[in-house]
Amino acid sequence: ETVRVLVDSDGDNEESYSQAVDLLNNGEVVAFPTETVYGLGAVATNDLAVKKIFEAKGRPSDNPLIVHIGTIEEITNYIEEIPENARKLMDAFWPGPLTIIMKAKKDVLAPSVTAGLSTVGMRMPSHGVALQLLRRLKKPVAAPSANRSGKPSPTKAIHVEEDLRGRIPLIVDGGVTGIGLESTVLDVTVNPPVILRPGGVTKEMLEGVIGQVIQPNHEQQKLDSTPKAPGMKYTHYAPNAPVYLIESNKDVVEKALLKLKNEGNKVALLAPDQFKELKADYFFPFGEEGDKLYDALRACDKTDAAIILATETTTEGVGAAIMNRLQKAAGGKWFNF
Ligand code: TXA
Ligand code: MG
Repeated sequence: ETVRVLVDSDGDNEESYSQAVDLLNNGEVVAFPTETVYGLGAVATNDLAVKKIFEAKGRPSDNPLIVHIGTIEEITNYIEEIPENARKLMDAFWPGPLTIIMKAKKDVLAPSVTAGLSTVGMRMPSHGVALQLLRRLKKPVAAPSANRSGKPSPTKAIHVEEDLRGRIPLIVDGGVTGIGLESTVLDVTVNPPVILRPGGVTKEMLEGVIGQVIQPNHEQQKLDSTPKAPGMKYTHYAPNAPVYLIESNKDVVEKALLKLKNEGNKVALLAPDQFKELKADYFFPFGEEGDKLYDALRACDKTDAAIILATETTTEGVGAAIMNRLQKAAGGKWFNF
């Protein structure tokens, strides 16, 4: 049975935290909020506990997990040698939505965390609840997003419950997450560093601190037959109905809606607010910053829409992260007249 406990900014929340800490110390998994999405955590040095994460999510075991820490100083326990650019990035963006891939120390973290790789992704989250939990536990926490594998990441406790009810003992409910898209994953084991997953810390922000950074586009990622971030090769964020990308142009979208309707299809439209006036059967805005995207994708599953249209975004700033998730949700498909 899955229990949901609340933490809020007024209460002392003592009981909620100690429940979570006890479960984690006992080798259990716990879902908790971060500033990006909800994570499903286990103590990162306990292999049996970490395996429970893969089991609860239905996650392929070759997809490594991010390790979360509560203070910057702890990093030296897990990382062999901290590159100078990584230091600068931690100073600039931690705590915050940036995961840095570095060479892992041997035999410290549970083998399932790194899925056999010699590197590990480290992140210090900025969400108050995540930080409290990590600092009380005083141990590193391996945590992927707290959704069933393939589903959109959870931005609310109810999303976690929908996906993992009965599979995990506890959800720490801290309300809606902030950014709503997962952290930027940056590999600093190569030069120049490569963005393996775009997120809230943008290419432009990274370059402001360490100079040139490579951000492969969708086409380049597809050409790379051995993806560097193993997770990127799997189906992601997929609602039940097929998603098609479409140009962000009201006339084009209007024509598409008309055509689909004439063919007898109910259509859900995922787009910025200004597309609201168009006559889609369902309209879900994904937010200027993409913060409502996963909520929107999940909402589609509660409708009888047969087709989902999603408008293209720019690939500048956080647009790169939004477009990346849309591409994946669509499996790269574009609407064709
Ligand atoms: O915002 C986030 O990052 C959330 C919250 C909970 O912190 N976590 C998250 O974890 O999104 P997950 O497991 O859903 O995504 C981690 C991504 C995957 O694409 C994985 O393949 C990649 O990071 N990754 C993890 N370790 C890696 C490594 N050593 N080398 C390359 N890619 C790695
Ligand atoms: Mg995930």
